[in-house]
Amino acid sequence: MSNLLIKNGRVVDPSQQMDDTLDVLILDGKVSAIQSGIDASPGVRVVDAAGCIVTPGWVDMHTHLRDPGFSHKETIASGALAAAAGGFTSIACMANTKPVNDNPFVTSYIYQKASSCDVNVYAIGAITKGLEGKQLAEIGSMFEAGIVGISDDGATVQDSYIMRKALDYSRKFDLVVISHAECTCLKGLGVMNEGVNSTRFGLRGNPKAAEEVIVARDILLAELTGARLHIAHVSTAGSVRLLREAKAKGIKVTGEATPHHLILTDDAVGNYDTNTKVAPPLREQVDVDALIEGVKDGTIDALATDHAPHSVTEKEVEYDLAAFGMVGLEIALPFYYRLHLEKGVPLSRIVEAMTTAPAKILGIPKGSLKPGADGDVSIFDPKSEYRIDKTTFKSKSRNTPFDGYKVQGKVRFTVTGGKVIYSASEETR
Ligand code: DOR
Repeated sequence: MSNLLIKNGRVVDPSQQMDDTLDVLILDGKVSAIQSGIDASPGVRVVDAAGCIVTPGWVDMHTHLRDPGFSHKETIASGALAAAAGGFTSIACMANTKPVNDNPFVTSYIYQKASSCDVNVYAIGAITKGLEGKQLAEIGSMFEAGIVGISDDGATVQDSYIMRKALDYSRKFDLVVISHAECTCLKGLGVMNEGVNSTRFGLRGNPKAAEEVIVARDILLAELTGARLHIAHVSTAGSVRLLREAKAKGIKVTGEATPHHLILTDDAVGNYDTNTKVAPPLREQVDVDALIEGVKDGTIDALATDHAPHSVTEKEVEYDLAAFGMVGLEIALPFYYRLHLEKGVPLSRIVEAMTTAPAKILGIPKGSLKPGADGDVSIFDPKSEYRIDKTTFKSKSRNTPFDGYKVQGKVRFTVTGGKVIYSASEETR
């Protein structure tokens, strides 16, 4: 456990309505004080955060770490390094590993591997055995082993009865049920959004309704069961509307949006770069605008990367054959920050969506710099402009369509338990 004094930064902490130039003192790994003019004491490392924005450590509630089973794409260690470089102090990893995290042995394996990482890694368990959608996974024993939610992400639970049972059962543990909303029948063999562009590009389309029918179904089932439902990677204006209406009715549903769905439209698929192939697919400008509006008014509670590493052999193939997904941990910040710079989303709302909101959904004690909280802090320079360079990624995979993008907002320091686990200046030295 470490001692750290972060001086002169603009501290934005929505959990205590704080937005001021202050110093943050962390002693023995916990936040000890936040006020101006704290003097350094012997044995306390000092970080100069002048000109930077200092926030509670960012929580990414949706990553894929690929271990066990696909460690050529990512390991828990490489994913944790990528997270730290991207400013994230806590990440939750999805269950679509091999074997699937559908039992306490895999959950314990993940936590054992994560114990040597500087980033806090949380495991999300599967809803159904083998992600097959037929039988519930060992949810109770995985809960005892430490899972923070359940999801068949990457494979939607198609059977409404099984989904109802999962929602019912989740209440016993107050676990959030995270829905990857895509109806297999409607999606068919679609590889991009169904619309004018899929016709123009000659690729099979996946209609927005494929997502929206599952969002609507799961909202109805959440109402029926009283369980906590979270919609992963919301991509359509219709889903945002459904979420907004459900929330107004008091149904316990939350939602997240990814950097790519907030930035790109299906126009990006026009160069057949397989790094644009993602599930759910990139949509249209009306959807991007609705997502941004949803983040602004809180209908979209959380920002989440859906970091989905894939190797070159799975991406350098025909569009139809390529794997779905793109990496996100190391590029997320400037795209989230852009919502404030260019789209008028208040900075405090963005920070909330990166910290307090995902922590609350997962039920983890993170996302706040209140005295006594864990000393997890993310510090970024809001003015720094640069180009994304995928060759610098810590991730084992580089499947991003954003290579070379000019962006603003750079992670300077990432801190967990008062220990600096990433420093941009040490990187470039
Ligand atoms: O594009 C995606 N890739 N979406 C998902 O939901 C799963 C992910 C993966 O595991 O590669």
